[in-house]
Amino acid sequence: MGEEINETLNKQCSEPASATNVEENGETVEGGVKYYTLEEVRVHNMSHDTWLIIHDKVYDITTFLEEHPGGEEVLLEQAGADATESFEDVGHSTDAREMLQQYFIGELHMDDRRRLAEEAQDTNSGESSSWTMWLIPAIAAIVVGVMYRYYMFEHKSS
Ligand code: HEM
Repeated sequence: MGEEINETLNKQCSEPASATNVEENGETVEGGVKYYTLEEVRVHNMSHDTWLIIHDKVYDITTFLEEHPGGEEVLLEQAGADATESFEDVGHSTDAREMLQQYFIGELHMDDRRRLAEEAQDTNSGESSSWTMWLIPAIAAIVVGVMYRYYMFEHKSS
């Protein structure tokens, strides 16, 4: 299911690979596909000019804001940024995924894909090594140990 979805998303703009690599208004054009950097996407964060990134693809959703069944607020919160996680968290239908094609304008620059992946990894490893992960169970174990000893002591003395 997950793979199927990713395949659908990957197919959306797969242009034949070409050796042409042209610079156009600061954006890289390769085989007809435009590559945008995170910086370029970031400035399109207004209600009259809204872009988002989902699975390394860039979408201009300005005309979709009012039509979005989930409301425009949630889209504006993600405007100019990577909305992959929030898009997936909602569990959008196949129809919603197919709608994305209409708004596709290009792909995220390779360097920035790497940067996003690294950021996601840092966040995950930060969560798992968080001190609260082991501190709470450790305190619970100490409390149980003390209560047990107290209980045993009471029984022996009575
Ligand atoms: C261009 C990108 C998006 C498209 C084409 C899209 C499309 C849709 C569609 C068609 C629905 C109706 C339910 C469905 O068919 O799944 C929907 C619902 C919804 N979407 Fe999106 N969506 C997009 C991005 C987002 C993002 C980035 C968020 C979160 C920040 C979001 C949050 C929601 C929510 C909360 C609902 C309502 C779910 C419910 O009421 O059950 N959507 N969207």
